[in-house]
Amino acid sequence: MSTLTIFDSAADAAGTAQDAPAGRPIPAVLGADLEVPVKGGRLVGYANLDYAASAPCLEPVSAAVAAALPAYSSVHRGAGYASQLTTARYEQARHTVRAFVGARPDDAVIFTRNTTDATNLLAGCLPEGATAVVFDTEHHASLLPWPKAVRLAPPAFPGEAVRAADEALAGIDGPKLLVVTAASNVTGELWPIAALAHIAHRHGARILVDAAQLVPHRKLNLTALDLDYVAFSGHKLYAPFGAGVLVGRRDWLAEGKPYLAGGGAVRSVGDDVEWHDDPEPRHEAGTPNVLGAIALAAACDALTATGWTELVREEERLITRLRAGLASIAGVRELSLWGDDHPRVGIVSFTVAGYSAREVAEALSGEYGIGVRDGKFCAHPFVRHLLGTADGGCEDDTASAVRASIGIGTTQEHVDRLVEAVRDLVSRL
Ligand SMILES: Cc1ncc(COP(=O)(O)O)c(C=O)c1O
Repeated sequence: MSTLTIFDSAADAAGTAQDAPAGRPIPAVLGADLEVPVKGGRLVGYANLDYAASAPCLEPVSAAVAAALPAYSSVHRGAGYASQLTTARYEQARHTVRAFVGARPDDAVIFTRNTTDATNLLAGCLPEGATAVVFDTEHHASLLPWPKAVRLAPPAFPGEAVRAADEALAGIDGPKLLVVTAASNVTGELWPIAALAHIAHRHGARILVDAAQLVPHRKLNLTALDLDYVAFSGHKLYAPFGAGVLVGRRDWLAEGKPYLAGGGAVRSVGDDVEWHDDPEPRHEAGTPNVLGAIALAAACDALTATGWTELVREEERLITRLRAGLASIAGVRELSLWGDDHPRVGIVSFTVAGYSAREVAEALSGEYGIGVRDGKFCAHPFVRHLLGTADGGCEDDTASAVRASIGIGTTQEHVDRLVEAVRDLVSRL
């Protein structure tokens, strides 16, 4: 198997590159003491193992939002002091995000609602006739927005991904965009984005990296990896719902149709409309989600201040324990594209022989107070590929899996509770 990873060096792979010199302790999450009812009416501590869907809010994020609330006022267009303060906080959030992903000084940083919004925004700005090249392994947010797309089969190993992208891009004339996820939301596996960026550029194409599942778990450096665009969501990054970002090269974004028509996106309106050609105002019409941007930036700051070494070490310890525990249970099968040893973030999807995914997820919640996700995780072609099933439609529960995902706030007890609960369910068959 190829040893390609998304990273350029062992230090990057370990998450240690550009670490803060003296990391702060890992911050706490809100809701760590949440109790939930289980069968029989008992209350148990909630084991939240659904971080890949939405991660809980970090305490420093909550504090930043609370600090901004008393002085919040109109953004960008107000003369009052509170308006200026709010505008400064919003624009500071942009700088923070820029630094967090290691963007180039002239990259655009556009606040969106989420990753889906960001990929759709970029899709609307592609040059006339552009073709996207996308693997069938993508989340629907990265699979579906493209007006014209070439879809590639799930590659059997990382080097095959690079080879398939190479071949597909070579066969396309005109502007082209390679779209790839950095860490799979189904298997957690890391994709060789550095090598894919290299191939894309060799063919005069650009690359968009869907980093929704990477940035909560690993340091990302857009400049070092030579990526053209990255997109991610605040709610998977320990910030509350409603804000995401698209970061990347300005030219397509400066020329593309404004994402929303309205105030803020225009320089002047008479009989004709003169749109801003700076991507940020052009694509952020209307009053933006200031608190969402502040929350997202506070999460970036908190992760950077903690340092990736410690975060990655703890996550690796817990995900290794979880995977080993599940592997020790007869009838449990982990879904994986590139094998057990391929590097991954804290996500594991699995099936349990004798049960549907829905039955497992319901029992974990109702009997053990464990929150997981079941289904096809908005990655229908990929999950079907991994399960070897045909298209049975959205409601086809036989073509589904259970997904457990971890992050800051996950404890060893949560992980062990899940393993023992699955063992218990299997023992009842
Ligand atoms: C890899 C990946 N990309 C995109 C998305 C879409 O994120 P959002 O729902 O925040 O738009 C998700 C969400 O699960 C994801 O896991």
